[in-house]
Amino acid sequence: MKDQLWKKEYERQGIPSSYRETPTKAVAEFVSFLQSLGIETGKGIDLGCGRGRNAFHLAQNGYAMMGLDLVEKNVLEINEKAKQENLPVKAYCQDITSPWPVQKEQFDFAIDIFCYKHIVDKEAQRRYRKYLQEALKMNGYYLLNLASDEDGFYGPLLRASPDLARKLIIDPYSQISSLLYTLEEIVSEFSDILQVIEAKKVFSTSPMYGKEYTREVLSLIFQKR
Ligand SMILES: C[S@@+](CC[C@H](N)C(=O)[O-])C[C@H]1O[C@@H](n2cnc3c(N)ncnc32)[C@H](O)[C@@H]1O
Repeated sequence: MKDQLWKKEYERQGIPSSYRETPTKAVAEFVSFLQSLGIETGKGIDLGCGRGRNAFHLAQNGYAMMGLDLVEKNVLEINEKAKQENLPVKAYCQDITSPWPVQKEQFDFAIDIFCYKHIVDKEAQRRYRKYLQEALKMNGYYLLNLASDEDGFYGPLLRASPDLARKLIIDPYSQISSLLYTLEEIVSEFSDILQVIEAKKVFSTSPMYGKEYTREVLSLIFQKR
C-alpha cells in the first residue's frame, strides 16, 4: 500500500526528491562535516534512499553506501547505475520499519533525507530508532532532514489534520502521510539514543506539484551515545 503510493509519486514527480539528480544541500554539507573530522572513508546507510541522489554523492566522495527504499524500481535503477559508474552503492528493497539487512555496528554514519517524517506510527518509529542505534558504530553520526510544522507546503495542511495532537498531515496530491515537528520535538524524540551535534532550520523556496512554496526544513546531525 505505502509502496504503491510512493510508486505513483515517482511516476507523477510532484515533489523535488522524485526527480532531482543533485544531492540535498544538507548532504553536501555533511560530506564537509565528515571530512573536517578526518572521516574520509567508511560505510554509510541511506534510509529511504529514493532514486539515490544522496547515496551517489557520498559514494563519489569516498564512502561505501547502502541504500534502503520501499520502491523496487528505485532499487533496481540504483544498482544498475552503481554498476555502470563503478561506484560503491548497493540498494535493497526494504521497509525500514522492519528489521534491516545489516550487521550490528556496521556503519560510520546514516542519513535520512525526508523519510523518517513519513513513518507515522509511533511503534514503527520506535523500531526504526532501535535498528538505527544497533546499525551505527559507537560515536557514529546520523544526518536527519524533515519538514518543520511551519513549512510553507506541509504546515497549512495541519488545518485538515486527522490527528492534530500528533501533527499528522496527509498530502492531498499523493495521499502520503507525514508527521510534522519543531526542532525541540525531534531532538527530544531521539535523545535517549543520540546526542545532538547540530540542529537548524533551513529556509528555501521550492516547487511542490508545480507551485512554488516557502520551505522550512529541520536539519540535524546526531551522534550515537
Ligand atoms: C521524500 S522521498 C526522499 C528520497 C531521498 N531520500 C531523497 O532525498 O532523494 C522519501 C522516500 O522514502 C521512501 N520510504 C517511505 N517510507 C519508507 C519505509 N517505511 N521504508 C523504506 N522506504 C520508505 C519512499 O519510497 C521514498 O523514496
